[in-house]
Amino acid sequence: MAESPLRLERVDMVKIVSLAKRRGFVFPASEIYGGIGSTWDYGPLGAELKRNVKDAWWRSMVTERDDVVGLDSAILQHPKVWEASGHAAGFADPLVECPECRKRYRADHLDDPERCPDDGAALSAPRMFNLMFKTFVGPVEDEASQAWLRPETAQGIFINFDNVLNATRMKPPFGIAQIGKSFRNEITPGNFIFRTREFEQMEMEYFVRPDEDERHHDYWIEQRRQWFLDLGVRAEHLRVRAHEADELSHYSKATSDIEYRFPWGWGELEGIANRTDFDLRRHSEASGKQLAYFDQQANERYVPYVIEPALGADRAALAFLVDAYDEEQAPTASGGTETRTVLRFHPDVAPVQVAVLPLSRNDRLVPAAREVYATLRRSFAAAYDDAQSIGRRYRRQDEVGAPLCVTVDFETVEQDNAVTIRNRDTMAQTRVGLSELEAALRERLREMGSRRV
Ligand code: GAP
Repeated sequence: MAESPLRLERVDMVKIVSLAKRRGFVFPASEIYGGIGSTWDYGPLGAELKRNVKDAWWRSMVTERDDVVGLDSAILQHPKVWEASGHAAGFADPLVECPECRKRYRADHLDDPERCPDDGAALSAPRMFNLMFKTFVGPVEDEASQAWLRPETAQGIFINFDNVLNATRMKPPFGIAQIGKSFRNEITPGNFIFRTREFEQMEMEYFVRPDEDERHHDYWIEQRRQWFLDLGVRAEHLRVRAHEADELSHYSKATSDIEYRFPWGWGELEGIANRTDFDLRRHSEASGKQLAYFDQQANERYVPYVIEPALGADRAALAFLVDAYDEEQAPTASGGTETRTVLRFHPDVAPVQVAVLPLSRNDRLVPAAREVYATLRRSFAAAYDDAQSIGRRYRRQDEVGAPLCVTVDFETVEQDNAVTIRNRDTMAQTRVGLSELEAALRERLREMGSRRV
C-alpha cells in the first residue's frame, strides 16, 4: 500500500467521532430521543465499512481455507448452554459504586479501586455483576421461560461440534467460524464503538489434538496479526501481549491479545485463546452427549483442544478508521494551501473504491459520467457525485477514503473517449481510454494492496 512519509501519528477521537457522523459512518443510536448511551448505528458508509471488514475476515478464515467451515447459530440458546459454559455463574465483572455521585465503575479499570475518580468519595465494596442480558422466551415471564442473549458466539459452535463433524467429515485440526451479534451488559461501555453493550463478533474455534495445542496457538497469533498488516494497519500500531495468569478467562490456559494503539492508548483488538477441552467437556457432561473425535487410523477417541481467535467487527472497524485517518497540507486552486483530511483505507476495506465525477454538471458530461458509473458499479464499490466544484468533490472523496476517482471531462465526450484517474494518496492524475478503464482501475487497486479485485 502506498505510504505517505508524513502520516499523522495520532488522531484525536473527537475528530474521528465528528467525521464519522458528518460523513455517515456512525451515528449515535436513538438520537432523536436523546440517545441511549454508548449505543451506535452505522450509516451508509459505516455499513459498507463493517461489511467489508466482515467479508475480509470470512474470506481469509473460511473461503480461502480447506480446514475451516462456517456456521450461523442462534442468538438465543437453551439456558443450560450458559450454565455448562460457566457464563451463568462466572461471567461477571467487579462493580463498585460511589455513594455521593452514584456513578458505577469496574473496579479492575480504576487506578485506585477504593476512591471515586470523580469526587474522591470512598467507593462501595466490589460486587460481582453478571454481564449477560436476561430475557423471556414466550408470553410468560417466569423462571422456566428465562433465557439469555449470548455474550459470545463461541458456544453456538461448541454445541454444534457433532453436527458439523457428521455433516462435513472434517478431521482435526479443523475450525468452525461464525460472525454474529453478541450482547454484554457492560458496566462501563465507552470510547465510541470500542466497548458497547451490543456488538458483532467474528470467532473461530479451531479443534486440535491436545498435544499439539501450543503449536497451533502460536500459528494463529501470527496469522491474525498478519491479517491486520495485510489490510494496511501500521505495524507500529499493533502489538501482541500475553495475558498474566490472573487475567485469564475461566476457560483459558493461555491467551494472547493483539492490541492496537488507539488514541487513548493500547487496547485489546482481538484475543487468541487456548480454551483447552473445557467447553466440549462441560457440554458433554451437561447434555449427556459425548462431544469427542474418534481418530480411526489411531483407533483412539479424544476430546480436542480449542484455539480461538476472537475479534469484534466493530472494534476492528474502529481500528481501521483510526489507522486510516490522516491530515496533510495540500495546494489550493488559488495558490495557497489547506488541510486535506484523508482516510487512507486499504482498498479492500474502503466503503467506496471508485468515485465517478463529471467535471461539472453539464448536459453532456452528466449522462456520459452516469454511463461510466453504471458500468463500473457492476465490478467495483462505486459512487457517483456531481454536486459542487470538482476540487470540493475530490476533498469529499478523500475524506471518505475512496482510493480512486474517475473524472469525465469535455475531452472525454468531444475528443479522446478517455477519462482521468486520480489517486487518493499521491493525487497523481493519469489519462486512460474508456476501453481500458476497468483493467486500469484493477491494476491501480492491486498496487494499493487489494486482493479482492
Ligand atoms: N469467545 C471469546 C470472547 O468472547 P473476548 O475477549 O471477551 O473473548 C473477543 O471478546 C473480542 O470481542 C474482543 O477482543 C473484542 O474485539 C470484542 N469485544 C468484546 N467485548 C466487546 C464489547 N463490549 N464491545 C465491542 N467489542 C467487544
